[in-house]
Amino acid sequence: MSIKEAFICGHPVKHSRSPLLHGYWIKKHNIEGRYGKKDIEPENIKSFLKSLKEKKLVGGNVTIPHKEAAFEAVDKLDGAATKIGAVNTVWFEGDKLVGGNTDAHGFTANLDQHAKGWDENPEKKTAIVFGAGGASRAVLYSLIERKISKIYLINRTIEKANKLAKEFGPTVIPLKISEAESALNQADIFINSTSIGMKPDDKYPFELAMLKSTALVTDLVYTPLDTVLIIEAKKAGLKTVDGLGMLLHQAVPGFEKWFGIKPKVTDELRQLIVDDL
Ligand code: ATR
Repeated sequence: MSIKEAFICGHPVKHSRSPLLHGYWIKKHNIEGRYGKKDIEPENIKSFLKSLKEKKLVGGNVTIPHKEAAFEAVDKLDGAATKIGAVNTVWFEGDKLVGGNTDAHGFTANLDQHAKGWDENPEKKTAIVFGAGGASRAVLYSLIERKISKIYLINRTIEKANKLAKEFGPTVIPLKISEAESALNQADIFINSTSIGMKPDDKYPFELAMLKSTALVTDLVYTPLDTVLIIEAKKAGLKTVDGLGMLLHQAVPGFEKWFGIKPKVTDELRQLIVDDL
């Protein structure tokens, strides 16, 4: 049997940690496989995805800036990709190239692992999602799938929050940053999907001290692992889940599609990636 080869395509792609992650599982499971980086210019992404069979690639991950182009290029979409409007994983079903979105799975699986019970009694739960970009769409999809009854969507550019609320339905209530503090003391879970926290001097545009003492706080930013949000929430004694688990868990469904084994997200794997951050 020939070696199965999967990939991550992006532009740039050299900083991606996906090869380390999939390489670990390939080795762990003794698979005759490979997972490499493909730096693809935006004008070539569609033709690259159309040529996978010819190149004997079994599928792969799609990252910035190609997630929307991949949505257009595949033959078939899964439910999550359809609703989120972006594809981060592709695989073959017969001759058809399927595009899926596993970011939503990554988000929920991370909370399921590190904050078990976070979605209990969802009819009584309120979430705050900060940010209304691409990543926020996967978070909204996850929360709605888990039937969280009220989601405040706060964004600097309110028009983007309004647009997403319209698309995702009445569960999602858009708020301006100036209105954020009125929602904070209602939230059972606070999620940052903005890029705030990536730079050391980043600050929040509103006061997080209003959060309930029982609130769970999670950040999609994982470089650094301890973002300004995670640090402040820990200081306030709140339960926190960092964003690295989302990266690890979003990789699971792809690996299973390409190589036929469902891999595990273990502490050893997490440590391997932490050491590389
Ligand atoms: P991603 O795909 O990671 O979600 P994106 O689509 O560029 O990236 O979205 C970035 C999000 O971070 C947006 O919600 C953006 O707010 P705007 O819609 O107003 O641009 C938010 N964001 C980035 N920097 C921010 C800052 N300094 N303050 C507030 N929001 C910020």
